[in-house]
Amino acid sequence: MMSRLFSRKKMNPASKYEHGNDHLIELRNVVKEYKTGAGVFRALKGVNLNVNSHEFVAIIGKSGSGKSTLINMITGIDRPSSGEVLVGDTAVHTLNEGRTAVWRGRNIGVIFQFFQLLPTLTVLENVMLPMDFCNMYAPRERKDKAMYLLNLVDMAENAHKLPNATSGGQQQRAAIARAMANDPQILVADEPTGNLDSKTANAIFDLFNNLVANGKTILMVTHDNDLASRVTRAVMVADGEIVDEKRNPGPAMTPEPAPAPGHNGHAAPEPVAAS
Ligand SMILES: Nc1ncnc2c1ncn2[C@@H]1O[C@H](COP(=O)(O)OP(=O)(O)OP(=O)(O)O)[C@@H](O)[C@H]1O
Ligand SMILES: [Mg+2]
Repeated sequence: MMSRLFSRKKMNPASKYEHGNDHLIELRNVVKEYKTGAGVFRALKGVNLNVNSHEFVAIIGKSGSGKSTLINMITGIDRPSSGEVLVGDTAVHTLNEGRTAVWRGRNIGVIFQFFQLLPTLTVLENVMLPMDFCNMYAPRERKDKAMYLLNLVDMAENAHKLPNATSGGQQQRAAIARAMANDPQILVADEPTGNLDSKTANAIFDLFNNLVANGKTILMVTHDNDLASRVTRAVMVADGEIVDEKRNPGPAMTPEPAPAPGHNGHAAPEPVAAS
């Protein structure tokens, strides 16, 4: 089935996507202010960022610079005080909380530093959870899809364990499988290797590289300069602004591709066309 992300009639026929955007992710003059006891704190000061499909982008910068705030704009976990957040055909900043959760569940895989697997569910059940939440795939298909993903991250033999019975690296691999449950085009990771030893961190990084080679777009916050030098582009954040960008001779930049096939070679699930 052709994805609606690419087949809908656009309001602006000159651009690739619905809202006049030509990049898969576009942040336009995004400001984020927090009200604090001491007054208003501006965590993002008018950020502009474009990310193409198939890019692997590292977000780097000191603690408190605004990295998490920035990627929380893209996932819709938080919303801007002003500015626009466009992801494919969706104007994320305009969605209400309920629609954002469903949109995110279907279109973005989110990976955290501390994995955030549910401790009372098995690894397999954790991976199936987003499918249940978004009502993706027929219920009887979900287990097979989840096992396929656990196989991909080399976790199939741990599928029936509780997360605490596996190592940190294994839990992060399970979290990556969970992030891919609904076959999202975009993965966003906040310090995914921050809690792992360097060997395990490298293995996770290799897994991300494979996913990019297979059509995913990844944004990864990292403090690891070595990892940041091995992605397509590193974006440096300081005091709520993007202050530098460095393109690395990494994976070749490719034009926006057709939608990637979904698990098992099936068509990719249809993204929510909320806008
Ligand atoms: N809910 C909030 N209320 C007030 N200030 C906040 C809030 N969330 C974040 N901030 C402030 O915004 C700034 C950016 O925070 P953010 O979490 O994005 O930093 P970061 O770059 O991800 O840091 P770290 O590397 O430590 O994770 C910080 O100064 C932080 O204190
Ligand atoms: Mg952070």
